[in-house]
Amino acid sequence: MPKPKAADPTALKRESAGRYVSGDGRFAVEQESAGSWVVVDEEQTNELGLPLVRGPFGTLTEAKTVVVSARDAPAPESPLKRRARPTEARRTKRRTSVPEPPPTEPSPLEARAATPSDAAAIAGIYNAGIESHEATFETSPRSKGDVLAWFDGRHPVVVATRGGEIVAFAAAFEYRPREAYRGVAEFSVYADPAHRREGAGRLAMEALIDEATKADFWKLVSRVFAQNTASRELLRSVGFREVGTYRRHARLDGEWRDCVIVERLLGAALED
Ligand SMILES: CC(C)(COP(=O)(O)OP(=O)(O)OC[C@H]1O[C@@H](n2cnc3c(N)ncnc32)[C@H](O)[C@@H]1OP(=O)(O)O)[C@@H](O)C(=O)NCCC(=O)NCCS
Repeated sequence: MPKPKAADPTALKRESAGRYVSGDGRFAVEQESAGSWVVVDEEQTNELGLPLVRGPFGTLTEAKTVVVSARDAPAPESPLKRRARPTEARRTKRRTSVPEPPPTEPSPLEARAATPSDAAAIAGIYNAGIESHEATFETSPRSKGDVLAWFDGRHPVVVATRGGEIVAFAAAFEYRPREAYRGVAEFSVYADPAHRREGAGRLAMEALIDEATKADFWKLVSRVFAQNTASRELLRSVGFREVGTYRRHARLDGEWRDCVIVERLLGAALED
């Protein structure tokens, strides 16, 4: 049998943050959660309905999740390097034969409005927060489809990126369906655990405040676990006021949690 040739890593093209597509457009690599990437071929499935992938050495195998550390997360120019798990022998060979690139300065943080193609990366960051049991009463992971529903044309969703990779997001949601509250929105903010304390959460919140103001919202509100110092400090630093505390608002892991209500006035509500 002829020796299979390794695919050209540069054949993958970055389609959006968290998603790369092969040069021939046949398969994609998507971020499933923080630091975790899955190779998917949406056109081919095996007898169990699982997606198939064309591996880096020309073989067709079942899709598998490639867990990588943040430092090893695919760089935009060569994500294929980590798109499938090679054999241990090949891994060892690669480790010993490919020299590590010299350390480089981190790319600057940037913020922008999110688009539906960011949904998988946003879900990944949200799920890392859900799994931590530190930020929300939610315990079920969110899918890309769940996040797609956030793009309702009214409530802003923003992301903070570094080198094109989404490292934090902030999103606004309906507060109440009543017409009187049309200018009030709830919000969430989450940073990738691998990129905490880098300013990404604050940048995402500042961008959300701007976008919500432009969209004529007059108030952002949320509830934060009383023990969530990181979130309370972040929100204080971008102008939120702590309104009060809901005592024993709900249970998480069987334990009562107090929630601090926060609000920030925007736009018209700031005028006298
Ligand atoms: C809260 C959260 C979004 C902060 O994101 P982040 O990118 O790490 O925060 P930043 O680097 O932008 O920090 C901004 C400010 O927040 C405060 N802060 C952030 N993390 C903190 C921590 N662990 N302890 C104390 N203050 C903290 C600081 O005031 C910080 O400013 P400084 O770095 O100049 O001191 C992040 O910790 C997170 O994703 N937590 C889980 C999800 C969550 O709790 N969301 C809020 C509920 S909606």
